[in-house]
Amino acid sequence: MDKVTAMTSPRPRISKAVIPAAGLGTRFLPATKATPKEMLPVVDQPAIQYVVEEATAAGLTDVLMITGRNKRPVEDHFDRNYELEDALRRKGDSERLSRVQQSTALATIHYVRQGDPKGLGHAIQCAEPHVGDQPFAVLLGDDLIDPRDPLLTRMIEAQAEHGGSVIALMEVDPEQIHLYGAASVDPVADGVMRVTGLVEKPDPADAPSNLAIIGRYVLDPGVFEVLDRTPPGRGGEIQLTDALQTMARESAAAGPVYGVVFKGRRYDTGDRGDYLRSIVRLACERPDLGPEFRSWLRTYVSEEMPQID
Ligand code: UTP
Repeated sequence: MDKVTAMTSPRPRISKAVIPAAGLGTRFLPATKATPKEMLPVVDQPAIQYVVEEATAAGLTDVLMITGRNKRPVEDHFDRNYELEDALRRKGDSERLSRVQQSTALATIHYVRQGDPKGLGHAIQCAEPHVGDQPFAVLLGDDLIDPRDPLLTRMIEAQAEHGGSVIALMEVDPEQIHLYGAASVDPVADGVMRVTGLVEKPDPADAPSNLAIIGRYVLDPGVFEVLDRTPPGRGGEIQLTDALQTMARESAAAGPVYGVVFKGRRYDTGDRGDYLRSIVRLACERPDLGPEFRSWLRTYVSEEMPQID
């Protein structure tokens, strides 16, 4: 493509979302022994359904799930269940019927199996045949972003404007940075940063900043070639952060890496504490359950909790 065409032709619209859900979920054992952690209920809906809803709300209707050894419950959840639908229809329970059907109608969902969970980078490599040579989004299946704080749409817009890849960053307590990938950045414009370096789970003393990578990415397809030459890193796993670090350093390889700082509500449902917080918050806000639950919670906090302390 000549320089003028490259400058004037619009960037391809992103339509594909990849949702890795093949991790072992060891922090949540034994609940995740036979059930993927992405299927744990957040109030009354599995975590992964919120993630698919977020993808479709951002206009991504082609979803590829990376599943592992316990993939059946994920597939069944997004498939029709005629027996259950018939039973609800016979009972005249149209409200539950429509909730059951909702997960099936969300998007076209494809599956690929990651035989061995060799890390998030390896999970992304499994998506290459489906994704092809277009930029695509990655949404971690256990990371929830409140729909009122639309992060993915901002990231897709940033990618359309600047090109390259875009990662989501969030300021965390410096003592917490060892749980995340950490980024060093230079401001570019309108809340978009140029990422100059990344470190996976650094010791707080070595962290380049307290900007943590959270589970949303818009990636240039050049990431696949970089992942192919990324050796196993921390924990013996192929780390997506290591590939992004290479891309940030050698922008000729797969374009530069940008960061969008997120200040909204996010829940890491793979972490037990955050999982509990997400349920309490979302239950309090639900119109059907909220009033009764809030009233119980107030009494519990003021009367029963002091006895535990
Ligand atoms: P995590 O590191 O949170 O997942 O990966 P994990 O390994 O299951 O967690 P713990 O530490 O053992 O509890 C983030 C996301 O990437 C997926 C996970 O399913 C999760 O959605 N993942 C991770 C894969 O799909 N494959 C992998 O090999 C690793």
